[in-house]
Amino acid sequence: MSKIVRAHTNIALIKYWGKANAELRLPLMSSLSMTLDAFYTDTSVEKTNDENAFYLNGQKQDSKQSQRVFSYLTKLQNKFGYHDNLIVKSVNHVPTSAGLASSSSAFAALAAAFCQYYNIQVDKKELSRLARIGSGSACRSIFGGFSVWQKGDSDASSYAYALDEHPQMDLHLLAVELNTNQKKISSTSGMKEAQSSPFFNPWLERNETELNQMIAAIKNDDFTALGELAELNANEMHAINLTAQPKFTYFEPNTIRAIKLVEDLRKEGIECYYTIDAGPNIKILCRLRNSKEIIERFKSVFNNVNIVIANFGPGITCLD
Ligand code: DP6
Repeated sequence: MSKIVRAHTNIALIKYWGKANAELRLPLMSSLSMTLDAFYTDTSVEKTNDENAFYLNGQKQDSKQSQRVFSYLTKLQNKFGYHDNLIVKSVNHVPTSAGLASSSSAFAALAAAFCQYYNIQVDKKELSRLARIGSGSACRSIFGGFSVWQKGDSDASSYAYALDEHPQMDLHLLAVELNTNQKKISSTSGMKEAQSSPFFNPWLERNETELNQMIAAIKNDDFTALGELAELNANEMHAINLTAQPKFTYFEPNTIRAIKLVEDLRKEGIECYYTIDAGPNIKILCRLRNSKEIIERFKSVFNNVNIVIANFGPGITCLD
């Protein structure tokens, strides 16, 4: 029987931005993320006698839009010996305005819904490996709270694990919608281009140290260390894009304005930090008690911009 599986989006505090193996999505670096409660994807999979079909938010997707989903499902079917045509239904509970549409919740939910439908018994480690093949960041969404994707060097050794599924840390994320247009350069191609930067290897060499520092910040409940390091790591990733050959950037004028505003707020004693993924929007890391003031400032500077507040979300869950 087909059941709905829910996976939450995650935001990397130490970024994955480069592959050692594109087919298996083996990364060149380890990464660490926070799973978010506010954004998630619900997905079910079932057999059909008709053609493969993928429905997103109730709309049947055309073959181009469905291509990535079905090429992934074909890999899973080949691995487990199934050859049915399938109907996939996904609903993205990501406020369209939040600019946070993410493949992490999509492929985590899809991997789990596939295993659920065929009653394939996998533990979370194996589920994380399966989700990774759909989209790298998805392997971290199997877990709630903080999770670490240890890079490994093979299909068997590259998976995420839970660092702390129920963190007590006062850490909130404000997703600021500066621009809701689809990103121009996908993560998959951006991270490929980025490897031509002369700073790519120096950045890679820092990965283990930064990961360990981030793990220590979490264990010590040190919001300042976590924020400073998340901001540094995001800026390193974007510096690599700016120095790739040819260079590119996800930043837009409003991205820089938002960075400046975070810096201004900090100077005023409101502690907050930013992280930025493969798009122009910024996510602010802050404490709950400061969130209202930060939101108000952003809304006054950015013409009532939409902002969604998120806290820690759970790992993968089966809904019925
Ligand atoms: C900047 O997981 O979307 O969000 O494996 O090619 O699907 P693919 O890439 P994806 O990349 C995410 C990149 C990032 C950083 C991160 O989530 O670690």
